Amino acid sequence: MSLKHLVDFNDITTDEWFGLQKLATEIKSRPADFADYCKGKLLATLFYEPSTRTMLSFQTAMYRLGGSVIGFDNPGNSSVAKGENLKDTITIISSYADIIAMRHPKEGAALAASLYTDKPFINAGDGGHFHPTQTLTDLFTITEDKGRISGLSIGLCGDLKHGRTVHSLLRALCMFGQNTFYLVSTLSLKLPQYIIDTLKQNGNTVYEVSSLEECIDKLDILYMTRIQKERFASEEQYRQQSGQYILDTEKMAMARKDLSVLHPLPRVDEITESVDFDPRALYFKQAKNGMFIRMALIIKMLENDCDRTADIYNLMDVSKTHVCPNPACITRTENYLPALTNDIKGPRPGQSCKYCDFRIN
Ligand code: NCD
Repeated sequence: MSLKHLVDFNDITTDEWFGLQKLATEIKSRPADFADYCKGKLLATLFYEPSTRTMLSFQTAMYRLGGSVIGFDNPGNSSVAKGENLKDTITIISSYADIIAMRHPKEGAALAASLYTDKPFINAGDGGHFHPTQTLTDLFTITEDKGRISGLSIGLCGDLKHGRTVHSLLRALCMFGQNTFYLVSTLSLKLPQYIIDTLKQNGNTVYEVSSLEECIDKLDILYMTRIQKERFASEEQYRQQSGQYILDTEKMAMARKDLSVLHPLPRVDEITESVDFDPRALYFKQAKNGMFIRMALIIKMLENDCDRTADIYNLMDVSKTHVCPNPACITRTENYLPALTNDIKGPRPGQSCKYCDFRIN
């Protein structure tokens, strides 16, 4: 595996994904054989934002591989509360730990942090931007259940605007072939246009619909998501959007017998508890798979001892800093970050912020 850091799922090649999936399957079938794989290695879990599954599944994964874990789940208890910037925290942690997993509320924080570490760095969620290890979990579960990750009819429902799991999953699926997507959301919470453009440019069929009833009978996969309360400016704005899409036994009765229901969890009210007993509800199995695929990822990233320091020194002019117009972008608060942009190709060429992918011009 040549992967230096996992910021975006698309950092992984398709062959590397198949390798990870194979290894996760082996670990799942004989976990005891891997109990000493990471003996003497230290994982740092830096969680600047709440998490249950992602943080605990990373920590469990490392312990089950025989390694150890350090970190924080409340930056208020670390030097961050004294005003330490991200660069300094990451530099210091890199001198203690062998591998780092970080979750941060700002979009683009993962790329920013990865610039300042010589250790394998894993994005465990950066604001509403990306969540690549959830995507590993989702693809592993879909492959296990359907035997493939293309040629499927996939519904995604809920907060498609802020849902980083949706953003990462859709961009990842583009690497493996074509699917038909039903995007179920209100107008205010629709999928960002740059991801819709990417889906279409890659030959997928995309339907934007406003109710589950319009498409549930056509789906192989239904990916439900929570309305991301923490990304709204006010409680009032959140309340206007919440409670609109609820998967219950009546809607499940309209769906196909082989539908698979996924959800990255936590659930709030978008799936009623009665659905949990339906064999088509795979979300708890999906959460368990998250631990196996993270075990595989940790093993593969630690195996690869490539030079991870090169980018910061060779790639950029660190004297030229960058402030992105996206108010949620990490460059708004960490003002030393070097100017980095991507060229947007296709029908509306321009430039986007390399940290958060927001269109600049
Ligand atoms: C998701 C996340 O944090 O983005 N949860 C997770 O990692 N399993 C989804 C969510 O919080 O809604």
